[in-house]
Amino acid sequence: MAAYRSSTSVRQSFWAPGRVNLIGEHTDYSGGLVLPVAIHLGIALVTEPAERIALVSDDHSVELAADGSGQTQGWGRYVAAVAQELAALGRRAVGIQGAVDADLPQGAGLGSSGALEVVVALALCAAADFEIESLDLALACQRAERRAVGVPSGILDQAASLLGREGSALLLDCGTLEHRWVQLPEDLAIVVVDSGERHTHEESGYADRRRQFEAGDPRRVRHVATENERVRAAVAAVERRDLKTLGSLFAASHASLRGDYEVSTPTLDRLVELALEAGALGARLTGGGFGGSIVALAERERAEEVLHRIVERTGTQGWVVRSAGGAIRYRTDSPRGRA
Ligand code: GLA
Repeated sequence: MAAYRSSTSVRQSFWAPGRVNLIGEHTDYSGGLVLPVAIHLGIALVTEPAERIALVSDDHSVELAADGSGQTQGWGRYVAAVAQELAALGRRAVGIQGAVDADLPQGAGLGSSGALEVVVALALCAAADFEIESLDLALACQRAERRAVGVPSGILDQAASLLGREGSALLLDCGTLEHRWVQLPEDLAIVVVDSGERHTHEESGYADRRRQFEAGDPRRVRHVATENERVRAAVAAVERRDLKTLGSLFAASHASLRGDYEVSTPTLDRLVELALEAGALGARLTGGGFGGSIVALAERERAEEVLHRIVERTGTQGWVVRSAGGAIRYRTDSPRGRA
């Protein structure tokens, strides 16, 4: 990050979490139900005002006009698209310069592009004193995803990153945007294992699946209908602390994503099996599929051991994830306070 030098007086820091979706997969773009948790892995951005937008990360730099116009590639496409969507909503063209730093892996099914859009959006809004409601910002970021890479995704990732709450999952109706938080049992841990299989939904079958669903393909439609029912049942199971039922719902969700929606891979199927063998209460692929990660549930006191057992047999990376609050701007004078 050598290219970026900051003076602390006008510096602002932002952070946006990734997410793990507990259940409700490929339901968001048809106005269905999702149940994500914002996680402790995320993307940080430190900025100061500038004439243009100039951002650097370890291996890439982005330079654009303050309204997002200009040529860019890689993750710069998301930055440009977010700036352009905000310009369309009336944000003044104020630039920022700064550095991006992430511990959230990219392309792992943990909402990395959504988190990037959200963190950049917060910084751009703050620089221009542009006020916008969280859900409107999530919608702008969702549009930015399509503008940037042409992927017709839903609002799951961006909403989870903005509305996450520590200790809870977010139950979101993607049709009405009505939402509430569902408190997670303290003795329940969430384990995420990255298959190492990378997807970009530009190249995966994501857009095909959406088209097939919208064209009324019976298996795609059946997945979405049964998955929405599973989200309702999962919320009820969490609320009565019925972890056994929750585990069965995870199994049914994975089977439906594999059989009816056809977004799993042999590697993800194997990881799900390994997680169950290792003592998980339930396991399923999370996110769009075609690679990425699985999510497993474990008793808190056994979670590290479950993770260790899976990872030692696969050599992939994983985490006992902590739930996190939604994206924030830190005050420059107090690194812990919400601005
Ligand atoms: C990706 C998309 C989301 C959602 C999931 C599948 O993560 O970005 O909008 O469709 O896939 O549930």
